[in-house]
Amino acid sequence: MAYFPQEQLKQIRESVNIVDVISNYGIKLTKKGNNYVGFCPFHTDVNHPAFTVSPDKQIYKCFTCEKTGNVFDFLMEDKIYGMTFPEAVKAVADMGNIKIDINIPTKKKVNENLYKIYEDANKIYQNNINNAYGTKAKEYLLKRGIDDEIIKEFGIGLSIDARDIILKSLSKKYDLKELVEAKIVSKNEYGTVDMYHSRIMFPLWNLDGKIVGYSGRKYLDLNSDEAKYINTSDSPIFKKGELLYNYHRSREECRSKDTVIVMEGFMDVIAAYQVGVTNTVAMMGTAVTRKQANLVRRMASKIILLFDGDAAGAKATMRSIDEFLELGVTPEVVRLEDNLDPDEYIKKYGKDRFIDKLNHPINIMEFKLNYIKQDKNLSDDVEKANYVKEAIDILKNIDNEYLIELTIDRLASETNLSKEFIKSKLENKPIKEVKQEKVEVKIKENKSKYEEAEASLLHYMLENVEAIMVYNDYVTNIRTEKYRFLARRILQFYKEHGTIFLADFLDTLVDDKEVIKVVGEVSSLKLKEDVTKKDLLEYVKVIQDGNYLDAIEDLENQMKNAKDVIEKAKLGEEIRKLRVRRMKDVEWN
Ligand code: CTP
Ligand code: MN
Repeated sequence: MAYFPQEQLKQIRESVNIVDVISNYGIKLTKKGNNYVGFCPFHTDVNHPAFTVSPDKQIYKCFTCEKTGNVFDFLMEDKIYGMTFPEAVKAVADMGNIKIDINIPTKKKVNENLYKIYEDANKIYQNNINNAYGTKAKEYLLKRGIDDEIIKEFGIGLSIDARDIILKSLSKKYDLKELVEAKIVSKNEYGTVDMYHSRIMFPLWNLDGKIVGYSGRKYLDLNSDEAKYINTSDSPIFKKGELLYNYHRSREECRSKDTVIVMEGFMDVIAAYQVGVTNTVAMMGTAVTRKQANLVRRMASKIILLFDGDAAGAKATMRSIDEFLELGVTPEVVRLEDNLDPDEYIKKYGKDRFIDKLNHPINIMEFKLNYIKQDKNLSDDVEKANYVKEAIDILKNIDNEYLIELTIDRLASETNLSKEFIKSKLENKPIKEVKQEKVEVKIKENKSKYEEAEASLLHYMLENVEAIMVYNDYVTNIRTEKYRFLARRILQFYKEHGTIFLADFLDTLVDDKEVIKVVGEVSSLKLKEDVTKKDLLEYVKVIQDGNYLDAIEDLENQMKNAKDVIEKAKLGEEIRKLRVRRMKDVEWN
């Protein structure tokens, strides 16, 4: 593990503002008093913005799931980036323009050459499309409305009809093993050959905007049996289900519009771009994956699913909606007529009608009801009954009270059943079983009054030197182990630095996930801000009372087990003394 001196960590951390970093990572924060609040990225809850970021303290904390930390902790906790500590330090240093020279020991180290291979390959492909080889490809693209400017903008290239031109050219610089690992060439029974031949090459980027793969489209014999697209297979740097086409290019735009449009194909993204709609991403497959849904939900709070207008698109919409609902996010839907995909729709109906479509999304219940209705004849009572049953099943998964109410209205008028009846059926249904990854929202356990006092004192010790002094001067023991450990760490930090600042203190806890958890727990207690010494001493009194009780109980046990009468009497006397002392202390004010 790379070692960073405390001073350096502090300097790096102070080179950025945690509010900017967290916002940059796609979490929408709104200013509230001295702090910023938003929805917690670490647990699912769309109703309570419990995630608080403090620019003064340079920490975040969630009052619901109790995750707490400084900017490094954030980057390590973040599910999408999931950095190691050295990676987080490096990332923050980069943001703050601080040069640090470290070798990052990642969990599984990716060979940087794999990225370089793609950079080099892309130069070749782009060169191909722009020279004599590219005439037909450009003709094809132009027919689809894609001109030189768009070709450049999206880095579109061409693989030519050759067996191993990429292999020959790149093996001057890279090992064969690396080229195979990058999946740019492949080994078959005839030897090693290029992966792509005679295809228009659409680069696929990772979240940072590095090319990590390709989708190659056939463009010559369009009626051949060959697949329309050939995609790079998964490699150490490319996982198709984990990235979104256009993510790095549209992130900013999606954030500023607070809307992200999700489409199926990258051709749709390009077509939308041409009519000025740039807050888009594409999934490049069937339905949205969990990873992709997680990415999308971090891009903007309004999510529009704009899939192909055919039956497959409707089905993918159904499945994607559920994926989002499981993350606690409610998307909206735009459906296109005539089975068209967005690209075809724009070509057929033009920019204005397309944008108008986007401005009128339907809610997911309307979409889902239409979907389940399509194969049912509602003038048949049995089918009508099935329709209502299915609709109620779907409604169980909806969190939004307004949407539920509106849907009940709609169902009632569609079926002539009374609203009360539908409501009663809805209430009878067992509550939905949440399939999602275990949400780490702890049920607040009942603390004893002693534990409560300990936690409260710790809460203040994290930000208040006086509380640390009180602990140091008056508390002989903290009974609860996890609190005892934390108290010691705080005192140790104080002794070394002569002060306490939570963000700094957290730097010393990187290897202590358990202690960080306890920090989160006690710091998210809702206690008043300005505490007096008298208040602190009240906590001490309770804590010490617990210690007396422990000591007395311990002596009582000893007395019970003592064989010797004199021993017993001695212990009895000690107990009596302790009780008196306890009385005195408890009465103390
Ligand atoms: N796709 C794929 N392989 C295929 C077909 C599709 O990988 N044989 C992926 C591609 O990433 C494509 C997405 O699924 O972008 C959507 O497919 P489709 O709707 O068929 O493609 P279009 O975007 O309509 O592409 P085109 O207009 O070129 O037909
Ligand atoms: Mn298409």
